[in-house]
Amino acid sequence: MAHLIYVDEVLKPVPYEESDEHNVLSCLEKKGVELHSHCRSGFCGTCRAMLLRGQVKYPAGPPLAYLREGEILPCCCEPVTDIEIKTY
Ligand code: FES
Repeated sequence: MAHLIYVDEVLKPVPYEESDEHNVLSCLEKKGVELHSHCRSGFCGTCRAMLLRGQVKYPAGPPLAYLREGEILPCCCEPVTDIEIKTY
C-alpha cells in the first residue's frame, strides 16, 4: 500500500510504495526531490526534517543522531501513514 509524502507545501505528494522503497530520503530522491544528506544512516543529522503530520517508523531501531521534538531523519525512516514534512 502506498503512503503519500508531502514536502514543503508542494501540492503534489510523492507516493511511497512500501515494497519498492528503503526509506523516505531515497524515495524522494528517486522522484526528483532533493534533501540535504551525508551519512545516510542516522548518525549525522544532516537530513533532519520536521514531521508536520503523520507517523514514521525506524525499522533498524532508533537513530543515533540528536533529534528535537517533532523532527525525523528521512534517511532511515519509513512512513506508516501519509506524512507531511518540512525541510530545513
Ligand atoms: S543523512 Fe545523516 S542522519 Fe540522515
